[in-house]
Amino acid sequence: MIKKFLDLGIQPLANRYLTKKDILKKTQELFYHLEVGFNTRTKLVSILNKIPSKIIFDDKYPYRSSMSQTMKISFKKLAKDIVNIYNPHMILEIGSNDGALIRNFSKKKAICIEPCKNLAKITKRMGYKTYSNFWDIQLAKKIKSKNIDLIYSANTLSHINDISSVFSSIVHVLTDDGILIMEEPSFLECLKKVAYDQFYNEHIHVFSLSSIINLVKKFNLEVFNIEKLNTHGGSLRYHIKRVSNNKFEIDNKVKIQLEQELMNGIDKYSTYIKFKNKVINSKKKLKQIFLRLKKKNKKIIGYGATAKSTTVLNFCNIKNETLEYFLDTTPGKIGKYMPGTHISIKGYNRSLLNEADYAFLGAWNLKEEIFKKERRYIKNGGKFITHVPVPKII
Ligand code: TMP
Repeated sequence: MIKKFLDLGIQPLANRYLTKKDILKKTQELFYHLEVGFNTRTKLVSILNKIPSKIIFDDKYPYRSSMSQTMKISFKKLAKDIVNIYNPHMILEIGSNDGALIRNFSKKKAICIEPCKNLAKITKRMGYKTYSNFWDIQLAKKIKSKNIDLIYSANTLSHINDISSVFSSIVHVLTDDGILIMEEPSFLECLKKVAYDQFYNEHIHVFSLSSIINLVKKFNLEVFNIEKLNTHGGSLRYHIKRVSNNKFEIDNKVKIQLEQELMNGIDKYSTYIKFKNKVINSKKKLKQIFLRLKKKNKKIIGYGATAKSTTVLNFCNIKNETLEYFLDTTPGKIGKYMPGTHISIKGYNRSLLNEADYAFLGAWNLKEEIFKKERRYIKNGGKFITHVPVPKII
């Protein structure tokens, strides 16, 4: 049974940045009602109103994995670990994006799956076998390679509505002793940080270890190891094998994480109601901060025009009268406008940052990298505003 616990209001599609032409022509944006529910049987947390994938993942999808040093370093280290621990014959990546991970592997030993044509083009050009399709059983049947012994996926499986079809398609192509490694934002972290901006139309599910265990069981798969990651505001990397594969034992970290999730009430509906109340409080506090600063005529901008920011700004009704513009380094976002709020996005430029008294940290998940880069701004009195874990000025 799915029980609704959170209503984040009417929201635009999170990664659908608008062009100047869209603004001038007053192009109608697509909005949806962002509500979140909890499955009492599987413990899976999912959004309730889903936008068809074909509308979201088209040939203009702007998100690029290689845009942050944090992600690049994380992928490089992972590629080394994969070779050291599993030494795969053939790796298949579901949601290969711009090749941030796969570039660390030989072209003969890797297959990319990437439905967004603009991104698939990048790995094709790099020389990797790339299928520009959605991950499903039709595609799994098309793949002829019989030695896929490692499947990797980061921040992709949570974007797929039919999660059972995801795992049945994986089981179809994976060798008997093959390994699935998937990493996704952790619901426990989301709960602790009151990071309600993990919810937007693309993040259909926010997984926990508890829910993954329940979901993969049906396919005779089990989680035998996990790693905690700093990426995307706190993620879990799950190492999954067939139950029949006795090569690996179940690591104690799995037991510990499961205990922590249960201790934090991840299996109880009352936890979700408490979370909802914290989200409502967070909205109130963030609005108060902006209001107070605006009354003092402070110049506020945004730093990192993330998809997550779209949830926050539209939920809190913060528009361009309050937040003058965003700064971002992603080429596909520069010169465009934030969905729903129409706040403009300018290419990152230190002097534009220096003009601001306060910068709202849209990319709070990359805080360390950003704070290191902006030492000068901070030293000269520049301040950041964050809403995670509680709204405050830092
Ligand atoms: P993400 O949270 O979805 O990874 O997106 C991070 C966004 O922040 C991405 O659009 C790039 C942007 N960004 C900057 O503009 N400057 C930076 O220094 C960093 C680290 C990220």
